[in-house]
Amino acid sequence: MKKITVLTGAGVSAESGINTFRDAGGLWEGHEVMEVASPQGFAKNPALVLDFYNQRRKQLKKVSPNRAHFALVELEDHYDVTIITQNVDDLHERAGSSNVIHLHGELLKMRSSGNERSILDCEGDIMLGDLCEQGYQLRPHIVWFGEAVPLLEKAAEKTQSAHIVIIIGTSMQVYPAASLVDYAQKGVPVYFIDPKPSVSKYDYDNLTIIPKTAVQGIPPLVLDLIAQSS
Ligand code: OAD
Repeated sequence: MKKITVLTGAGVSAESGINTFRDAGGLWEGHEVMEVASPQGFAKNPALVLDFYNQRRKQLKKVSPNRAHFALVELEDHYDVTIITQNVDDLHERAGSSNVIHLHGELLKMRSSGNERSILDCEGDIMLGDLCEQGYQLRPHIVWFGEAVPLLEKAAEKTQSAHIVIIIGTSMQVYPAASLVDYAQKGVPVYFIDPKPSVSKYDYDNLTIIPKTAVQGIPPLVLDLIAQSS
């Protein structure tokens, strides 16, 4: 089976009702990104940051995967598919995707602020004063700006071994996520689906830009790729 690596950003979940980051003028649900997505922001106002992610977790329970998430699952009967997402929602998993790597962490997990390997499931709210077994404050399992990306190496390997790469709904502004596509082998077809694509056709060797939303662009692309596989 040929391998497909799919790199997704906030745009794949936009039509499920989750706002993207940079489409709202640099504010994320009314907050400066650094205020709610950096260790400095957490040190300055932990209650605000915890509440911010508690709200995101509540919102996540009210939304559902869209037709783009579901279409990607269809590929699995024909290709060995890995999804590498920058998103912290679980919409790819809820749609049924089997191999999902969350580069920037997961809203439905929390971790000790004293030991990044102590990771627990998190269905409800995290409050100030909620401690791990070793007595450290619990925090969302999110990779904030300035923090290491533990799954980067695995994601790079998956991109390097791909026969086809699909990129969906990302502004390609956050590194190292945006540089993952550079690991693809020369000549591998790269499809970029985004209504406001941030790449030009000369950026990659064998690039097809599809300037559509995920729900418009992904289902037909999946049908084409399934047809090519037989
Ligand atoms: P951005 O908000 O930077 O970019 C969203 C992209 O989605 C833009 O290119 C939009 O044009 C596109 N878009 C909007 N609606 C779409 C739709 N219906 N279908 C397809 N695409 C659509 O989001 P990311 O690139 O994912 O990090 O942001 C990367 C990281 O920055 C996030 O993971 C987050 C943030 O700070 C952390 O929280 C650590």
